[in-house]
Amino acid sequence: MRIYKASSYDEMSRKAAHVISALVTLKPDCVLGLATGSSPIGTYKQLIKWYQDGDLDFSQVKTANLDEYKGLTKENDQSYYYFMVHNFFKDININMNNTNIPDGTNPDTAAECARYDQAIADLGGVDLQLLGLGRNGHIGFNEPGDAFAKGTHCIDLQPSTIDANKRFFASIDDVPKQAYTMGIKTIMQARKILLVASGEDKAQALFDSVNGPITPRVPGSILQLHPDVTIVADMAALSRFTDL
Ligand code: F6R
Repeated sequence: MRIYKASSYDEMSRKAAHVISALVTLKPDCVLGLATGSSPIGTYKQLIKWYQDGDLDFSQVKTANLDEYKGLTKENDQSYYYFMVHNFFKDININMNNTNIPDGTNPDTAAECARYDQAIADLGGVDLQLLGLGRNGHIGFNEPGDAFAKGTHCIDLQPSTIDANKRFFASIDDVPKQAYTMGIKTIMQARKILLVASGEDKAQALFDSVNGPITPRVPGSILQLHPDVTIVADMAALSRFTDL
């Protein structure tokens, strides 16, 4: 694992955007695995700027998002589809036919999970997977549990995740209780992983993911077994590390 320190959220975002930009430049038809949430927004903003400056071209890039709330339509402004369009896709020259996000409105869980796994397989897998980290150590919506889930699955969100995400909803009762998420196996099959983390509330989860035992109780800890992980984190998120 390579860990890059950033002095601020903006610096973290720029450093992470450099990693993605290098891949898009070297492999214009790469497959990017994307995340939602607060952590990657600055990274997307930086990539949009470089696109607008004429330095990046997304016309051949393909994407696969980590997750989507179950039950939310694309038009719902809290869906991850909506998030991706409004925080990234609408401002770059990506072909929307090349973007993939689990369909939160498909009530047939087994069919949706199989469809999404097949879609990722059809892309030839993910070249670079961008990840945020949950306060409880989750990656994607792979919540702490007794075992690492493999492929795309539907998960019951933990109370701590519902609480962390309530800031985006009118009330905690509006936060969906379930989500579709790529599984740990799919994430681990990405050829490169880029994790961004900022803020004190990620410090313990980040420390445990990098230094703790590899356990499904801390899903991020599985990344210790991946051969190509880059972590970009700010000082607050790295505050439990004494040796950096
Ligand atoms: C989002 C996702 C989640 C978030 C994590 C951190 O697609 O898969 O794992 O990355 O919950 O969220 P933020 O960045 O909002 O702190």
